[in-house]
Amino acid sequence: MSDHLLSKENLMWRDRARKLAMEHIRPVAAEYDTKQEYPWPIAKAMAEAELLKVWIPREYGGDAGETPVLNLCLVVEEISRACGGIGVGFAVNALGSFPIILGGTDEQKQKYLPDIATGKRFIAFCLSEKTAGSDAGGMKTVATKDGDDWVINGEKKWTTNGGVADIYTVFAVTDPNSRSRRISALVVEKEMEGFSIGKIEDKMGIRAIPVTETLFDNVRVPAGNLLGGREGAGFKQAMQTLDHARPGVAAQALGLAQGAVDLALHWACRRIQFGGPISAKGQIQAKLADMQSKVSAARYLVYACARNIDAHAKNIGLLAAQAKLFATNMAMEVTTEAVQIFGGYGFMKDYPIEKYMRDAKITQIYEGTNEVQRLVVARNMIKAVGELDYLKPYCPMPWED
Ligand code: CAA
Repeated sequence: MSDHLLSKENLMWRDRARKLAMEHIRPVAAEYDTKQEYPWPIAKAMAEAELLKVWIPREYGGDAGETPVLNLCLVVEEISRACGGIGVGFAVNALGSFPIILGGTDEQKQKYLPDIATGKRFIAFCLSEKTAGSDAGGMKTVATKDGDDWVINGEKKWTTNGGVADIYTVFAVTDPNSRSRRISALVVEKEMEGFSIGKIEDKMGIRAIPVTETLFDNVRVPAGNLLGGREGAGFKQAMQTLDHARPGVAAQALGLAQGAVDLALHWACRRIQFGGPISAKGQIQAKLADMQSKVSAARYLVYACARNIDAHAKNIGLLAAQAKLFATNMAMEVTTEAVQIFGGYGFMKDYPIEKYMRDAKITQIYEGTNEVQRLVVARNMIKAVGELDYLKPYCPMPWED
């Protein structure tokens, strides 16, 4: 993308993340993937570079400027270009803190956001359960009122950064008899009695960061930790959070795809077959051209989506779903083609490219499967169909007058 479309502030965040990724992440990405171990030194370096401030408002210790979501996307893209796992390990802090930023009380913001901004404490997001993935509203974890406290019981699944995070935004059923006000959000701290980490997943990709079960056994949470003090607002708070966080997954996919194109191009220009570099072959050139064009198209969509969210546009759910759907499908396609360009070497773990393909797969699944994104996009299109009434004279229905 032309730098002219980005502000000085945007470029500052992008370049800061790019430098950190080059110096600290790329050299060790394969090692952390193999060990399946959280990269604490990199988390420390990201905190020291003040990258965790990018989405947090200045009045709460952050450095979010005019365009926090776009800046967040630029940072996630650059980190993911070097390692998709570390990219999501960073971005999930935004996913965990958006509920507080968007729906928390001033007291909750003062209490939690400054520590997240400095990297003193990390935060995660607990929505999904074994039997409630796409159907997030079908969750079974409960929070029951007991005096001034809430008592949480249940199990969450696929908590990214589970065990690493100190704070967890947890969604639980507080009114089983209500349809639209069934769920509330609570902020849980890992020291709270009854909170523990269950199964640590062994994963296909994003292996540098943990994905775990989080268990709640009579976890007593003070009333002040009910998000925004609003009982029953949890489902909408979760959906609004995802509307803000999904562009981050799209940016992760974008970074992975660009990283794969970079590697494939570099390889193709040096891999000699039939007496010359394979980059001289029409079939390889076509692949490279298609790959980069798709990445560039996704980049414009993701940045425009993020910019619209920053401008408080209406219907950001539609924009976020489109960006996530398009960029993550693109990343799967592009990383697969990159492995193809590497040929037999690409299939081997000696080379960094197969990791890109493995890391890309989850982007089509988490923070809402791409089937869910299509559902969101289609529902929004159908809801707005009245805007096309001007087409009625051109499409008469034989059974209508
Ligand atoms: N903003 C505000 N409110 C919203 C909303 C939005 N974007 N979307 C829906 N709502 C409201 C609706 O208006 C409705 O309100 P009323 O009851 O007052 O009418 C209510 O929420 C219920 O909406 P729906 O009927 O549309 O809900 P649904 O049950 O049909 O589900 C869904 C919709 C889009 C499928 C939703 O369940 C969804 O997004 N599922 C995917 C969940 C998801 O993304 N999970 C990922 C978790 S994070 C993760 O992956 C792990 C990680 O750590 C990275």
